[in-house]
Amino acid sequence: MKDRVIEILSKSDGYVSGEEISRILGVSRTAVWKNINSLREEGYVIDSVTNKGYMLRECPDLLDAEKLRKNLGVDVVGTEIEVLKCVDSTNDEVKRRASDGGANGLIIAAEEQTGGKGRLGRSWSSDSGGLFFSILLRPELPPSDIASITLAAGYAVCLAIRRYTGLDARIKWPNDIVIGNKKAVGILTEMAAQSDMLDFVSIGIGINVNTEAFPEEIKDKATSLFIETGKKTDRNGFFREVIYYLDAVLCSFMVSLYIDDMENFKRLCVTLGKNVSVTRNGTEIRGTATDITATGELVVRDSEGHEYHINSGEVAVQGIY
Ligand code: BTN
Repeated sequence: MKDRVIEILSKSDGYVSGEEISRILGVSRTAVWKNINSLREEGYVIDSVTNKGYMLRECPDLLDAEKLRKNLGVDVVGTEIEVLKCVDSTNDEVKRRASDGGANGLIIAAEEQTGGKGRLGRSWSSDSGGLFFSILLRPELPPSDIASITLAAGYAVCLAIRRYTGLDARIKWPNDIVIGNKKAVGILTEMAAQSDMLDFVSIGIGINVNTEAFPEEIKDKATSLFIETGKKTDRNGFFREVIYYLDAVLCSFMVSLYIDDMENFKRLCVTLGKNVSVTRNGTEIRGTATDITATGELVVRDSEGHEYHINSGEVAVQGIY
């Protein structure tokens, strides 16, 4: 029940009365009060004011594997979860686990990464307050079948952010999540295959959750849930929501090989309708992003009416970082 109390307080902008919480949870006000005290003992800072109720000020900000696993009710993603204090890169750790027989759906999260990796050989700064994790998947499929799995993962994270924080998170094709015009999430998918059959996939996700500020060189391009909402997010509660959506979206993707709800994906995609510039194999295509195909390719139409189906590459979107 403590998780539900935290969820109610996290979602509220101001004070919530004990009466309101007891009504939502169908328990007595004494039970609410006992849970609030027990949460305080765990390190949550909860203000209480007579005639107003309770307000969550601060959450203990360490990931807790036990809290993450409890009654999670997932089919594949997150059936095993491990939280490490420090690792080079959770993607690299997942690769090591994969060669040691690691289970399909295993999640490795870390409080700190000493060598966090981004796309295109870049590094991913792993400042405190972020959420860094990778998922090990073992679909028995050829790699070409899951070319758009990163899109599906991004879609799931976008839905989780929207649901948990109420923020207007959007997808920048193919795999960034932006809030306003700044990046809040990056995804790096790596895979290994033998004779055209996947051995494993590692989907690495970095989410700027409680990051308070960014270094000068990226501060105009990066944001965090804290910067956008003005309050700290309970990382365990939020991570559970993210895992829940990842399990739902990725399980259905691995059966149909499509994002089932593509129309909603398109509605949440900031790239569509914008002027874009795509760099592929050293050449640049400029045009308008007009559509996303069922298999996840971005359709770009140039000023002469030529259509290009883009499945990878760097896409710069006008107005977004
Ligand atoms: C990008 O936008 O360039 C992708 C960033 C991916 C970062 C995450 S953090 C967890 C996982 N481990 C890594 O080393 N990288 C991914």
